Amino acid sequence: MVKRMIDGKKSLFSGMQATGNLTLGNYLGALRNFVKLSDEYECFFCVVDEHSITVRQDPAELRKRARNLLTLYIAAGLDPKKNTIYYQSHVSAHAELAWILNCFTYMGELQRMTQFKDKSAKHADNINAGLFTYPVLMAADILLFQADVVPVGSDQMQHLELTRDIAGRFNSIYGDVFTIPEPYLGKAGARIMSLQDPSKKMSKSDENPNASIYLMDDKDTIMRKFKRAVTDSMAQVKYNDEQPGVKNLIDIYSVCSNKSVAEVEAEFDGKGYGEFKEAVGESVASILVPLQSEFNRLSSEKAFIDEIIKENAEKASYYANKTLRKVQKKIGYPERIR
Ligand code: TRP
Repeated sequence: MVKRMIDGKKSLFSGMQATGNLTLGNYLGALRNFVKLSDEYECFFCVVDEHSITVRQDPAELRKRARNLLTLYIAAGLDPKKNTIYYQSHVSAHAELAWILNCFTYMGELQRMTQFKDKSAKHADNINAGLFTYPVLMAADILLFQADVVPVGSDQMQHLELTRDIAGRFNSIYGDVFTIPEPYLGKAGARIMSLQDPSKKMSKSDENPNASIYLMDDKDTIMRKFKRAVTDSMAQVKYNDEQPGVKNLIDIYSVCSNKSVAEVEAEFDGKGYGEFKEAVGESVASILVPLQSEFNRLSSEKAFIDEIIKENAEKASYYANKTLRKVQKKIGYPERIR
């Protein structure tokens, strides 16, 4: 077995892109749960700016969004002393290991990736090599930190499978260098759907702004979007598949107010959708408004955030370089003279 890099604790790696506006779905499905996970795991939260440039970005905008995402992790309650919260581009080992792993990944494997096929269709004018090898960089992210678990949505599962294949292939040649990562499957119920089409996941790239609650939406906007949320004509707050819109609202309310589904059904028994939607909006605002004020407070503490960025990049580099040096030695790069 691969030796645990950090004594005792298993490690968790999560990467998030800073593009698009984060939604309530990202928060309830991912960020918020990370706070609990950070007791159990040694966590690495990476703002994957290197992945973002596989599609064209406005430089100033990318920089601002990356900083906002990093700040948001902390505003969400992740302790930057206990966790490693950093930018991918500040740790050169990511790009270095990605190059090496490129040489252990087959064209055919990358050609099968559904995200590559989707993104090439969407950005037909810029099908660059980075878009093609995107999953290899993701494998490098994960393997550098010997991650035992990776929380991923279903859209990233194929990339995680590929990561496992690459790691297994490398290990079978050179011995146990990499930990083979497992997906971390969060509890059900955290999958938040679009408010306008409850058959789709709530997405930060939805063209309809009423479909998603953005983390920075103010209270009036939140209330208005829930008021307009799609329901049905059955006029009952019941949790079932025939009422996907209502089901989604129950899920949201249940998570935000810490009540079970049965409690929610009982609370709104015989009551109308208007009243129910207002309660859902209130419960969401009661979570997002404090998050926003903490985010705003931290954003104004420039020196404090700068220090975190510096310290955490160093911490991440330390762990990443341990793995990278081992890999470089295994494959036959010349020794570094010190
Ligand atoms: N590809 C992921 C996404 O778009 C982001 C990502 C990059 C990631 N590297 C990662 C996720 C490593 C988990 C682990 O959502």
